[in-house]
Amino acid sequence: MRIIQAASREEAVETVASLVLEKILAHPTAVIGLATGRTMEPVYARFCELVRTSRPPLSQAFFFLLDEYLGLPEGHPASFKQYIRTHLLRPLSIPESQIAFPPAGDSDGPERYEALLKESHGVDFQLLGIGQNGHIGFNEPGSHKTSRTRFVQLTEETISANRAQFTDIIPQKALSMGIGTIREAKGLLLLATGKSKADAIKYLMNHHDDPACPATFLKDHPHFTLVLDPDAASRINLKI
Ligand code: F6R
Repeated sequence: MRIIQAASREEAVETVASLVLEKILAHPTAVIGLATGRTMEPVYARFCELVRTSRPPLSQAFFFLLDEYLGLPEGHPASFKQYIRTHLLRPLSIPESQIAFPPAGDSDGPERYEALLKESHGVDFQLLGIGQNGHIGFNEPGSHKTSRTRFVQLTEETISANRAQFTDIIPQKALSMGIGTIREAKGLLLLATGKSKADAIKYLMNHHDDPACPATFLKDHPHFTLVLDPDAASRINLKI
Protein backbone atom coordinates (compact mmCIF):
# COMPACT_ATOMS: atom_id res chain seq x y z
CA MET A 1 0.00 0.00 0.00
CA ARG A 2 1.33 3.38 -0.96
CA ILE A 3 0.21 6.22 1.28
CA ILE A 4 0.25 9.83 0.16
CA GLN A 5 -0.36 12.21 3.01
CA ALA A 6 -1.14 15.58 1.48
CA ALA A 7 -0.45 18.86 3.22
CA SER A 8 -4.00 20.08 2.61
CA ARG A 9 -7.33 18.93 1.20
CA GLU A 10 -6.58 20.89 -1.98
CA GLU A 11 -3.27 19.06 -2.39
CA ALA A 12 -4.99 15.68 -1.89
CA VAL A 13 -7.55 16.58 -4.56
CA GLU A 14 -4.81 17.81 -6.92
CA THR A 15 -2.88 14.56 -6.44
CA VAL A 16 -5.86 12.39 -7.35
CA ALA A 17 -6.97 14.51 -10.31
CA SER A 18 -3.39 14.54 -11.65
CA LEU A 19 -3.01 10.77 -11.25
CA VAL A 20 -6.17 10.19 -13.31
CA LEU A 21 -4.91 12.58 -15.97
CA GLU A 22 -1.52 10.83 -16.05
CA LYS A 23 -3.22 7.46 -16.58
CA ILE A 24 -5.15 8.79 -19.55
CA LEU A 25 -2.13 10.55 -21.01
CA ALA A 26 -0.06 7.37 -20.73
CA HIS A 27 -2.88 5.09 -21.94
CA PRO A 28 -5.53 6.92 -23.96
CA THR A 29 -7.64 3.72 -24.07
CA ALA A 30 -7.60 3.39 -20.27
CA VAL A 31 -10.67 2.06 -18.49
CA ILE A 32 -11.31 4.20 -15.42
CA GLY A 33 -13.60 3.20 -12.56
CA LEU A 34 -15.43 6.17 -11.07
CA ALA A 35 -16.64 6.69 -7.52
CA THR A 36 -19.14 9.37 -6.60
CA GLY A 37 -19.83 11.13 -3.28
CA ARG A 38 -18.87 14.45 -1.74
CA THR A 39 -15.19 13.51 -1.53
CA MET A 40 -14.94 13.15 -5.30
CA GLU A 41 -16.73 16.36 -6.28
CA PRO A 42 -13.62 18.59 -6.05
CA VAL A 43 -11.57 15.86 -7.76
CA TYR A 44 -13.82 15.93 -10.82
CA ALA A 45 -13.88 19.74 -10.78
CA ARG A 46 -10.08 19.84 -10.77
CA PHE A 47 -9.83 17.05 -13.34
CA CYS A 48 -12.08 19.06 -15.67
CA GLU A 49 -9.80 22.09 -15.27
CA LEU A 50 -6.70 19.99 -15.98
CA VAL A 51 -8.32 18.50 -19.08
CA ARG A 52 -9.19 21.97 -20.37
CA THR A 53 -5.55 23.05 -20.08
CA SER A 54 -3.68 19.91 -21.11
CA ARG A 55 -6.26 18.53 -23.59
CA PRO A 56 -5.55 14.80 -23.20
CA PRO A 57 -7.13 12.46 -25.75
CA LEU A 58 -10.32 11.50 -23.91
CA SER A 59 -12.26 10.03 -26.81
CA GLN A 60 -10.82 6.52 -26.47
CA ALA A 61 -11.09 6.28 -22.69
CA PHE A 62 -13.92 4.28 -21.15
CA PHE A 63 -15.50 4.68 -17.72
CA PHE A 64 -17.36 2.38 -15.34
CA LEU A 65 -19.44 3.76 -12.50
CA LEU A 66 -18.82 1.90 -9.23
CA ASP A 67 -22.34 1.76 -7.84
CA GLU A 68 -25.89 3.06 -8.01
CA TYR A 69 -28.92 3.33 -5.76
CA LEU A 70 -31.92 1.15 -6.39
CA GLY A 71 -35.37 2.58 -6.97
CA LEU A 72 -34.53 6.06 -8.24
CA PRO A 73 -36.17 7.15 -11.49
CA GLU A 74 -33.99 8.07 -14.48
CA GLY A 75 -32.60 11.57 -14.03
CA HIS A 76 -33.16 11.68 -10.24
CA PRO A 77 -30.77 14.38 -8.98
CA ALA A 78 -29.38 12.15 -6.22
CA SER A 79 -28.65 9.19 -8.52
CA PHE A 80 -25.00 8.51 -9.17
CA LYS A 81 -25.70 8.53 -12.90
CA GLN A 82 -26.90 12.11 -12.62
CA TYR A 83 -23.97 12.98 -10.36
CA ILE A 84 -21.41 11.81 -12.90
CA ARG A 85 -23.25 13.55 -15.72
CA THR A 86 -23.13 16.80 -13.73
CA HIS A 87 -19.57 16.60 -12.48
CA LEU A 88 -17.75 14.88 -15.33
CA LEU A 89 -19.61 13.98 -18.52
CA ARG A 90 -21.33 17.28 -19.31
CA PRO A 91 -18.46 19.61 -18.35
CA LEU A 92 -16.12 17.64 -20.63
CA SER A 93 -18.70 16.71 -23.29
CA ILE A 94 -17.97 13.02 -22.80
CA PRO A 95 -20.69 11.05 -24.61
CA GLU A 96 -22.59 8.41 -22.65
CA SER A 97 -21.34 5.80 -25.12
CA GLN A 98 -18.04 6.06 -23.21
CA ILE A 99 -19.43 5.07 -19.82
CA ALA A 100 -21.17 2.07 -18.32
CA PHE A 101 -23.76 2.70 -15.62
CA PRO A 102 -24.68 -0.04 -13.15
CA PRO A 103 -28.04 -1.39 -14.40
CA ALA A 104 -29.65 -1.03 -10.97
CA GLY A 105 -33.19 -1.28 -12.35
CA ASP A 106 -32.73 -4.76 -13.85
CA SER A 107 -32.90 -7.98 -11.86
CA ASP A 108 -30.00 -9.41 -13.87
CA GLY A 109 -28.09 -6.10 -13.59
CA PRO A 110 -25.21 -7.49 -11.49
CA GLU A 111 -24.47 -10.35 -13.92
CA ARG A 112 -24.75 -8.01 -16.91
CA TYR A 113 -22.37 -5.51 -15.32
CA GLU A 114 -19.83 -8.23 -14.54
CA ALA A 115 -20.07 -9.45 -18.15
CA LEU A 116 -19.53 -5.92 -19.43
CA LEU A 117 -16.48 -5.49 -17.20
CA LYS A 118 -15.06 -8.73 -18.56
CA GLU A 119 -15.75 -7.67 -22.14
CA SER A 120 -13.85 -4.42 -21.49
CA HIS A 121 -10.91 -6.42 -20.08
CA GLY A 122 -11.45 -4.94 -16.64
CA VAL A 123 -10.72 -1.61 -15.02
CA ASP A 124 -7.24 -0.12 -15.29
CA PHE A 125 -7.58 2.45 -12.55
CA GLN A 126 -10.35 2.52 -9.95
CA LEU A 127 -11.18 5.61 -7.90
CA LEU A 128 -12.68 4.98 -4.48
CA GLY A 129 -13.98 6.90 -1.51
CA ILE A 130 -14.55 5.38 1.91
CA GLY A 131 -17.63 5.40 4.11
CA GLN A 132 -17.41 6.35 7.76
CA ASN A 133 -18.03 2.66 8.45
CA GLY A 134 -15.18 1.59 6.15
CA HIS A 135 -17.36 0.66 3.18
CA ILE A 136 -15.96 0.84 -0.34
CA GLY A 137 -18.42 1.18 -3.15
CA PHE A 138 -21.49 0.03 -1.25
CA ASN A 139 -19.74 -3.00 0.17
CA GLU A 140 -20.88 -2.54 3.73
CA PRO A 141 -19.27 -4.14 6.81
CA GLY A 142 -19.73 -7.90 6.66
CA SER A 143 -19.04 -8.04 2.90
CA HIS A 144 -16.70 -10.75 1.66
CA LYS A 145 -13.31 -10.15 0.12
CA THR A 146 -14.28 -12.18 -2.94
CA SER A 147 -17.75 -10.63 -3.36
CA ARG A 148 -18.88 -9.81 -6.89
CA THR A 149 -21.18 -7.13 -8.27
CA ARG A 150 -24.53 -7.54 -6.53
CA PHE A 151 -27.53 -5.87 -4.97
CA VAL A 152 -26.73 -4.78 -1.43
CA GLN A 153 -28.70 -3.57 1.56
CA LEU A 154 -27.40 -0.23 2.84
CA THR A 155 -26.70 0.07 6.55
CA GLU A 156 -28.58 2.59 8.70
CA GLU A 157 -25.29 4.49 9.07
CA THR A 158 -24.88 4.87 5.30
CA ILE A 159 -28.53 5.77 4.82
CA SER A 160 -28.31 8.51 7.43
CA ALA A 161 -24.92 9.79 6.14
CA ASN A 162 -26.54 10.35 2.72
CA ARG A 163 -30.07 11.29 3.84
CA ALA A 164 -29.56 15.01 3.22
CA GLN A 165 -29.40 14.35 -0.54
CA PHE A 166 -32.94 12.97 -0.60
CA THR A 167 -36.17 14.82 -0.20
CA ASP A 168 -38.51 12.12 -1.50
CA ILE A 169 -37.36 8.52 -1.88
CA ILE A 170 -34.69 7.32 0.56
CA PRO A 171 -32.96 4.37 -1.08
CA GLN A 172 -32.30 1.35 1.13
CA LYS A 173 -30.52 -0.74 -1.48
CA ALA A 174 -27.91 -0.32 -4.17
CA LEU A 175 -26.11 -2.19 -6.90
CA SER A 176 -22.40 -2.20 -6.17
CA MET A 177 -19.31 -3.70 -7.72
CA GLY A 178 -18.13 -6.35 -5.27
CA ILE A 179 -14.85 -6.26 -3.40
CA GLY A 180 -13.49 -9.11 -5.51
CA THR A 181 -14.59 -7.17 -8.60
CA ILE A 182 -12.94 -3.96 -7.38
CA ARG A 183 -9.75 -5.83 -6.50
CA GLU A 184 -9.44 -6.97 -10.13
CA ALA A 185 -8.69 -3.40 -11.22
CA LYS A 186 -5.01 -3.00 -12.09
CA GLY A 187 -4.68 0.05 -9.86
CA LEU A 188 -6.78 1.30 -6.94
CA LEU A 189 -6.81 4.80 -5.55
CA LEU A 190 -8.75 5.59 -2.39
CA LEU A 191 -9.16 9.20 -1.37
CA ALA A 192 -10.25 10.14 2.14
CA THR A 193 -10.71 13.73 3.22
CA GLY A 194 -12.20 15.30 6.32
CA LYS A 195 -12.41 14.55 10.03
CA SER A 196 -15.45 12.31 9.55
CA LYS A 197 -13.16 9.75 7.87
CA ALA A 198 -10.40 9.82 10.51
CA ASP A 199 -11.73 6.85 12.52
CA ALA A 200 -12.23 4.70 9.42
CA ILE A 201 -8.68 5.51 8.29
CA LYS A 202 -7.26 4.67 11.71
CA TYR A 203 -9.10 1.34 11.62
CA LEU A 204 -7.90 0.70 8.08
CA MET A 205 -4.28 1.31 9.06
CA ASN A 206 -4.44 -1.08 12.02
CA HIS A 207 -6.39 -4.01 10.58
CA HIS A 208 -6.04 -6.44 7.69
CA ASP A 209 -8.70 -8.41 5.86
CA ASP A 210 -11.30 -7.43 8.43
CA PRO A 211 -14.94 -7.64 7.28
CA ALA A 212 -15.81 -4.96 9.88
CA CYS A 213 -13.98 -2.50 7.59
CA PRO A 214 -14.23 -3.64 3.95
CA ALA A 215 -11.50 -1.18 2.87
CA THR A 216 -8.97 -3.42 4.69
CA PHE A 217 -9.53 -5.98 1.92
CA LEU A 218 -7.68 -3.68 -0.47
CA LYS A 219 -4.45 -3.46 1.49
CA ASP A 220 -2.75 -6.45 -0.14
CA HIS A 221 -3.61 -5.27 -3.66
CA PRO A 222 -0.27 -4.81 -5.46
CA HIS A 223 -1.15 -1.30 -6.66
CA PHE A 224 -3.23 0.31 -3.95
CA THR A 225 -2.69 4.01 -3.23
CA LEU A 226 -4.28 5.76 -0.29
CA VAL A 227 -4.44 9.56 -0.49
CA LEU A 228 -5.23 11.40 2.74
CA ASP A 229 -5.73 14.99 3.69
CA PRO A 230 -4.55 16.14 7.14
CA ASP A 231 -8.02 15.73 8.71
CA ALA A 232 -8.50 12.17 7.46
CA ALA A 233 -4.97 11.34 8.67
CA SER A 234 -5.43 13.08 12.02
CA ARG A 235 -5.82 9.86 14.04
CA ILE A 236 -2.89 7.97 12.59
CA ASN A 237 0.80 8.33 13.11
CA LEU A 238 2.59 8.44 9.81
CA LYS A 239 6.26 9.23 9.68
CA ILE A 240 6.84 11.45 6.69
C1 F6R B 1 -19.70 6.34 -4.02
C2 F6R B 1 -19.33 5.22 -3.15
C3 F6R B 1 -19.18 5.38 -1.68
C4 F6R B 1 -18.56 6.71 -1.26
C5 F6R B 1 -18.49 6.79 0.25
C6 F6R B 1 -17.99 8.13 0.71
O1 F6R B 1 -19.69 5.94 -5.36
O2 F6R B 1 -19.17 4.17 -3.63
O3 F6R B 1 -18.38 4.32 -1.19
O4 F6R B 1 -17.29 6.82 -1.81
O5 F6R B 1 -19.76 6.58 0.80
O6 F6R B 1 -18.92 9.10 0.38
P1 F6R B 1 -18.60 10.65 0.58
O7 F6R B 1 -17.47 10.96 -0.31
O8 F6R B 1 -19.87 11.35 0.21
O9 F6R B 1 -18.24 10.80 2.02
